[in-house]
Amino acid sequence: ARRIVVLISGTGSNLQALIEAQEHDRLGGEIVAVVSNQADAQGLKRARDAGIDAVALPHREYESRETFDGALIKVIERHEPDLVVLAGFMRILTPRFVQRFLGRMLNIHPSLLPAYQGLHTHARALEDGVSEHGCSVHFVTEELDGGPVALQAAVRVDADDGLENLKDKVQAREHLILPIAVNWFLEGRLQLTGDHITMDGISLPPTGMR
Ligand code: GAR
Repeated sequence: ARRIVVLISGTGSNLQALIEAQEHDRLGGEIVAVVSNQADAQGLKRARDAGIDAVALPHREYESRETFDGALIKVIERHEPDLVVLAGFMRILTPRFVQRFLGRMLNIHPSLLPAYQGLHTHARALEDGVSEHGCSVHFVTEELDGGPVALQAAVRVDADDGLENLKDKVQAREHLILPIAVNWFLEGRLQLTGDHITMDGISLPPTGMR
């Protein structure tokens, strides 16, 4: 089976969606390890409950981003993954780390990229009064939240949508599109080719498919 390592920092609801897809034979591979930079991440318990190797690697115990990423590379490579998935992993990665897994690392981001890169995406979208918001699965490159997008899902922003409500609506879509993109990748359908993605041999635009 194809091997997946998932990196998390918190709740792990996207991890849960991946676990459920795997249980229904819809993931195209096996989650062999979950690594969190926060020792108390709820997602680590989700992993253990599913019988998956759960590793806490607290970044605070490392003196620099470089030494932390070095340790992270070691832990990940022990599991010989075909794919690394960032599922709510809230650390900026060094160029060395990104290069190591280039073309085999996907991230889920809570916006319709290239809109709202970075943090607090929902609050910023609400503040701007946008009518549409959403989430993106993209390949990780050295540019933060800037790698080519494979798949997006959009939600309508209603006049009475608050922060929590909007976040919940977007996350429900995250849980749909992340397992799909992982499956496409593991089936060999989705590839990073230079600076763009090909899906079944077709070149995608930088914003992928929606
Ligand atoms: C998700 O909504 C994900 O899109 C976001 O963190 C959340 C983690 O939730 N990721 C980022 O903001 C990346 N910069 P989860 O732990 O329940 O999956």
